[in-house]
Amino acid sequence: IPAAVSGLVPMSAILDYLREHHDRFVRDLCDYLRFPSVSAQPQHQKDLRACAEWLVHRCRRIGLDSELCETAGHPVVLARTPRRAGKRRPHFLVYGHYDVQPPEPFELWQSPPFEPRVTDAAVFARGASDNKGQHLAHLNAVEAWLATGAELPCDLTFLIEGEEEVGSRSLAGFLAARRAELRCDAVVVSDTGMPAPGLPALTYALRGIAAVEIIVTGPDRDLHSGIFGGTVDNPAMALCQMLAQLRDRHGRVNIPGFYDDVAPLSAYERRQLARLPFNARAYRRFLGVPRLFGETGYTAWEQRSARPTVEINGLTSGYQGEGSKTIIPAWARAKLTFRLVPHQRPDRIARLVVRHLRRLTPPTVRAQITVGHGGEPYLLDPRSPRAQAALRALRAAFDREPVLLREGGSIPIVTQFRKILGAETLLLGLALPDDNAHSPNEKFDLGNYAAGMRLGATLWPELAAAGG
Ligand code: BES
Ligand code: ZN
Repeated sequence: IPAAVSGLVPMSAILDYLREHHDRFVRDLCDYLRFPSVSAQPQHQKDLRACAEWLVHRCRRIGLDSELCETAGHPVVLARTPRRAGKRRPHFLVYGHYDVQPPEPFELWQSPPFEPRVTDAAVFARGASDNKGQHLAHLNAVEAWLATGAELPCDLTFLIEGEEEVGSRSLAGFLAARRAELRCDAVVVSDTGMPAPGLPALTYALRGIAAVEIIVTGPDRDLHSGIFGGTVDNPAMALCQMLAQLRDRHGRVNIPGFYDDVAPLSAYERRQLARLPFNARAYRRFLGVPRLFGETGYTAWEQRSARPTVEINGLTSGYQGEGSKTIIPAWARAKLTFRLVPHQRPDRIARLVVRHLRRLTPPTVRAQITVGHGGEPYLLDPRSPRAQAALRALRAAFDREPVLLREGGSIPIVTQFRKILGAETLLLGLALPDDNAHSPNEKFDLGNYAAGMRLGATLWPELAAAGG
């Protein structure tokens, strides 16, 4: 850690400020978490806007030049640190998202998802770690820089969007439209995870994604399954039979051409991934499964971060209420996503999937197949000077040697940062494996909240000094 950051204000003053204001930062996070900013559900549109407005005000209060930017979808929040006239300094973008996943099923939450509950160790609420807590830590760090009078060694722009969890529909257009002002030397994103408590990580790869929905229809209404069963196909059965063929017993996706562009894992990467902590028994228990399942020939870390998959995210048909109802349902529906790895392309994969599902559809039902959002896989060279600078900041913030990580989740916009802004993204995740992202009882570890703020204190001098 550099001792003095601006000649007058030592780094320790920034860190002291963060420590002194920690309780208030926790209260701020709770305020932020009270907005039910569920981007997938239209009834929450006003809540998303209110949440974005809260964020704009919060940014203004700490001295950022902040605006709410309209898009075709949910608004984007932009906030800039005060610019120095005449001096060209490095410019970094901090990206995050204020939208959250749907909280359902409510009954599995120990406390309501939008009434934050603070314990000694964590704050529980939907969006706590994915992603409000993670980017608020960076914002708090900038507050500390400004409030202590320290001079940031770079210009920062916070870009916090409201559509990440639904595929960032409007953001690429927004980036293109404001390209000149958003051009930057690198993007910093804290929206990924750490492999274990206390073990910081630089994530250098993310999986891509391709989403597809299918509705299979049969009779034009639900039918009595005794009177008509045996003479017409059952859409639920037909859909299940189709879906069951998409993956084989060895965990391979069973679609012609699916693996054509998959880059094999190098021996070097396999050695690196093998060094990450993993305990199969603890992992199995933690997930509550009787046995793990994955592609034969790959380790769990490889399976979950560097190999492509197909998942059924939702499957709906017929009657699911109390008791029984003897029908042949009129329709059955499934939501699928494929996780992709370099160099698979979401549009090509979606085409292959649609073609294959058409072929699998029996003539006794109709299938309507629609392609949803997509995102390309991301891969960064972790040897670059900026990646090394980020590793130094992680080491300082967590007081522990960081590891390099590939992650299985997706943040589709990061490849657009590269294409549109010409900037690489440093993924510095603060979420723990048991933070329950997208699950009931999501939480954010308060130790990681504090470490994330320390990261936001030490990162900028390191990055600004790293050059290209
Ligand atoms: N924060 C996650 C992405 C993530 C989590 C990456 C953990 C790596 C490790 C993000 O909010 C997310 O959930 N993204 C979606 C993207 C999709 C909706 C396009 C995902 O991965 O399902
Ligand atoms: Zn998410």
